[in-house]
Amino acid sequence: MAERTSAAISPTAHYTGYVWVANGLSHPTFATRPGRAFYEALRPANAIARAIGQPSLEGLLLARHRVIDHMLEAAIASGRVGQVVEVAAGLSPRGWRFAERHGDAITYVEADLPGMAAQKRAILARLGGESPRHRVVELDALADAGPGSIAQVVAGLDPTRGTAIITEGLLNYFDEEAVVGIWRRFARALAPTAGGLYLSDIHLADDNAGPVIGVFQAMLSAFVRGRVYLHFADSAAAVTALRGAGFDTAVLHRPVDLANEVGEIEPGGGRKVRIIEASVVPRR
Ligand SMILES: C[S@@+](CC[C@H](N)C(=O)[O-])C[C@H]1O[C@@H](n2cnc3c(N)ncnc32)[C@H](O)[C@@H]1O
Repeated sequence: MAERTSAAISPTAHYTGYVWVANGLSHPTFATRPGRAFYEALRPANAIARAIGQPSLEGLLLARHRVIDHMLEAAIASGRVGQVVEVAAGLSPRGWRFAERHGDAITYVEADLPGMAAQKRAILARLGGESPRHRVVELDALADAGPGSIAQVVAGLDPTRGTAIITEGLLNYFDEEAVVGIWRRFARALAPTAGGLYLSDIHLADDNAGPVIGVFQAMLSAFVRGRVYLHFADSAAAVTALRGAGFDTAVLHRPVDLANEVGEIEPGGGRKVRIIEASVVPRR
């Protein structure tokens, strides 16, 4: 079931990859033909939603992307994080942008299933290639151990540095059991590091009730050829699950509440998604 989900959601990476390009957050090399086709197909729906003051899919995606960028930047600037594993990175430019900006000061590992990882490698090759500080690995968020598991990727990093794991656009395609399993694996992998940070978007049921979001969710579900899960009613329920999975602290932020700091947050979209900021304190 969860494996079928992985296969079904991969095409959505082309759409989000194109959204980042279209909004000046990426490099044109990350744009793909299917990404552009999806973007053009959804353009009218996004425009109508914006025109009537409703949340747009594009506004929601940009809100989550900008807030995760903002939090990661702050964690790096404070010295809390020196290495990053972005799981399910897809065609996101974040690794490339942060590697360009921070150079040798950080290590950035982009991780995805084999097909998408190969595509990312080909894109990065056209932009100057990978390096020991910025590389792509094959990883399955559902793997408990061994090659392609988060455990093995984090074990290959420097245990003396603070480490962040990011997921963006992954959790709501998996059922609750799979999500809690992913969180357990992440918390366990971060425990031996010099401090772990987990950043991710998540959609909560209470934020997404009502007819408008019903249409929005149906559009998203059709697009990913599967269900979109709203596992937790509210922030408290998600925090309890994160703590149960092994995180020492967990907070869920609403992008719209951070608009002053982050800038350019669509009010509608910025209310429909939350950003998880969870941590694992150093064990030694
Ligand atoms: C909606 S895309 C998001 C891509 C990117 N994070 C972004 O926001 O632009 C979902 C990504 O999850 C990846 N994915 C799906 N199942 C996965 C799994 N089990 N382990 C790792 N990545 C997975 C897909 O290949 C795809 O790149």
